[in-house]
Amino acid sequence: MGGWPLSPLLIGCVCFLQLQLSIVFSNHEYLIGVGSYDMTGPAADVNMMGYANLEQKTSGIHFRLRARTFIVADASNNNNRFVFVNLDAGMASQLLTIKVLQVLHSRYGNLYNEENVAISGTHTHAGPGGYLQYVIYSVTSLGFVKQSFDAIANAILQTIIQAHNNLKPASIFINTGEVKGGGINRSPSAYLENPAEERARYDSNVDREMSLLKFVDEASGKSIGSFNWYATHGTSMSRDNKLISGDNKGVASRLFEDFFSSPSTITSTLPPGINTYIVADIGQLVKKARGIKASGGHECSKERSKEAKVRKNDGSLFVAAFCQSNVGDVTPNVVGAFCIDTGKPCDFNHSSCNGNDQLCVGRGPGYPDEILSTKMIGERQFITAWKLFESASEELRGKIDYRHVYVNFTNIQVKLENKKVVKTCPAALGPGFAAGTTDGPGAFGFQQGDTKINPFWKHLRDLLKKPSKHQVRCQSPKPVLLSTGEMFDPYPWAPAILPIQILRLGKLIILSVPGEFTTMSGRRLREAVKETLISNGNGEFDQDTHVVIAGLTNTYSQYIATFEEYHQQRYEAASTLYGPHTLSAYIQEFHKLARAMAKGEKIAAKGPSPPDLSSQQLSLLLGPFEESPPKGIKLGDTKQDIALPKRGYFSKGDRPSATFWSANPRHDLLTEGTFAAVEMLQGKKWLTIHDDDDLSLFFKWKLDNSSLHGLATIEWEIPNHAISGVYRLRHFGASKTSGTSRISYFTGTSHAFAVK
Ligand SMILES: *[C@@H]1O[C@H](CO)[C@@H](O)[C@H](O)[C@H]1NC(C)=O
Ligand SMILES: *[C@@H]1O[C@H](CO)[C@@H](O)[C@H](O)[C@H]1NC(C)=O
Ligand SMILES: *[C@@H]1O[C@H](CO)[C@@H](O)[C@H](O)[C@H]1NC(C)=O
Repeated sequence: MGGWPLSPLLIGCVCFLQLQLSIVFSNHEYLIGVGSYDMTGPAADVNMMGYANLEQKTSGIHFRLRARTFIVADASNNNNRFVFVNLDAGMASQLLTIKVLQVLHSRYGNLYNEENVAISGTHTHAGPGGYLQYVIYSVTSLGFVKQSFDAIANAILQTIIQAHNNLKPASIFINTGEVKGGGINRSPSAYLENPAEERARYDSNVDREMSLLKFVDEASGKSIGSFNWYATHGTSMSRDNKLISGDNKGVASRLFEDFFSSPSTITSTLPPGINTYIVADIGQLVKKARGIKASGGHECSKERSKEAKVRKNDGSLFVAAFCQSNVGDVTPNVVGAFCIDTGKPCDFNHSSCNGNDQLCVGRGPGYPDEILSTKMIGERQFITAWKLFESASEELRGKIDYRHVYVNFTNIQVKLENKKVVKTCPAALGPGFAAGTTDGPGAFGFQQGDTKINPFWKHLRDLLKKPSKHQVRCQSPKPVLLSTGEMFDPYPWAPAILPIQILRLGKLIILSVPGEFTTMSGRRLREAVKETLISNGNGEFDQDTHVVIAGLTNTYSQYIATFEEYHQQRYEAASTLYGPHTLSAYIQEFHKLARAMAKGEKIAAKGPSPPDLSSQQLSLLLGPFEESPPKGIKLGDTKQDIALPKRGYFSKGDRPSATFWSANPRHDLLTEGTFAAVEMLQGKKWLTIHDDDDLSLFFKWKLDNSSLHGLATIEWEIPNHAISGVYRLRHFGASKTSGTSRISYFTGTSHAFAVK
């Protein structure tokens, strides 16, 4: 534009024009909205979902659980959209999906429905259970736990509302790469049953690929979120852990979100927004701290616990979600499985030690420190995700589309490739299920790979339900230990009707599966869907079409092993509910969806709706006591104050802790608030440095075993990059006044201490 007079006015004018043009002609195709909300359920007394270990009941929080959601809409027709929700939960639940869809319907009409909403779980085994509707998934939680359910349902809705409200023009980038050391196969002998030619096509017996999306706000050029899919179990935390935790994927999200919002926080201890450094001599700090006593418990408002939050949720948080994939046989315990008695590797075919499965336990990279293992596996996923995020340059373009259908899996006719017609069966579990895995051995002396059940167990089984002849034949070679698909008392033990769904975002195809596909099962399904899309799609799909599996989505139906793996009857096969042809049935039904999508056709029949069993749920878990502290003591008073080391101050790596008289955290979950805080003295004010969503802070709850009073211990693992200063620990809690339904809130602080 040489020769034009450069008057400021004109420059302004040109800029304005360019802005206009960029809006009008911008080739943005998508609107994106993201949301994130606290879904931490009851932190006391509730059985954790995953290991089915009766003794594993929540008693505190390592870090909070969140729901993370994105909505993507077609910019030129924004009714065409879908929602993807990722929960820090063991898995999706049919009842959650049903109830959430009902509320969405009343709020948004038909904009969000079963076809375009996917709700997926990360598969952490460290979240409160009792939110699933089939009996087998709520035995150890003593039935349905309304508080668990409500916390998750509310969080899903809040995230969808947030994402809906902040939809805006955005570009989406896609990238893929390998995670190093994030998982190994925990049933390698079963994997070896797959044909040699098939195995030869892959360089590993697990999928190491992570597929990542990056969302960038068109107007500001800033990234608003990132979702990825990668397969590894949420079993870095063991079956003995009692602290609520998002496990390795939760850690990865926490690291990514914190690093994004303030890249300095990973190397310093300061949360976003605080950068006043206290430079002082340790002697002065010690002197200062000595003069500041514990505050004593006192009443406070519920809001006070929210104000103490480091990351305040005003709906504009950057959202990084780590979603689950074909996780069936992938363990994060990457060192391998060893016998706890001899220290030797376990038996290869059964993962047992001299015939005893309970002695064979997998080790994470931080063994024997499971919290360290959780952090390490989380960090490995975070590092790959960050690299993919930083280098993502391929922009997604093309259609948003989806297909969904319900299928009754108890009796599907499946036409195999060799034209033979076979059938699926009613759901059943084999003894390998009861044996558990190297991530969490089971009980009662069952072994993975058992293809017989002894007469004693057969007798017990028959008291519950004798499997039908059809069932025994159909499930073979799985011996039927529990014929859950034939058990309906007091309500169905296993799902019969499963949702399957395909979401399309340009070249990315997301397969929502209601269970845990093993590595090879996942590969077969992805490949079959891709072939179907290409061969039916008029050139719209090609080798570049990228298919990912979103595991544990919309409902839960345990495992899906290949036909060949099924014959070994290890845990995954024994938990493949609908018989040896379960995978083939999935491939056949997904083929129909994929073909319809490729041809632009609707699905003729949406299939039978799954039942809503909410009115039949049993709930046997008692409510919390209405505890009051001993005479003369107030809730929030310290029972055991900070114990200073001899030198008079703490150093990095130390773990100062304080125990407070407290009340059961079930009285109020303090959603988007915190039970615990580390505060740092800044001038005359105390500022929160960490809350119970931080990896360095532990909130542990228990009943004092002699007096039955509640006790909360807050423990801070001082990070290596902590800053010298004066600190204290704070506890927030809620209690119920005896004889009333009134909830009151209290707080208390520890004695101050110096950190060098
Ligand atoms: C595992 O079982 C297979 C047969 O199913 C057998 O050939 C192999 O030797 C066994 N491996 C070990 C290490 O026991
Ligand atoms: C699923 O199909 C089976 C066999 O056809 C049938 O008996 C059963 O009632 C169906 N289940 C549901 C929940 O509709
Ligand atoms: C109570 O707990 C303490 C410490 O945890 C333990 O030493 C003691 O044996 C317990 N007492 C009972 C009666 O369980």
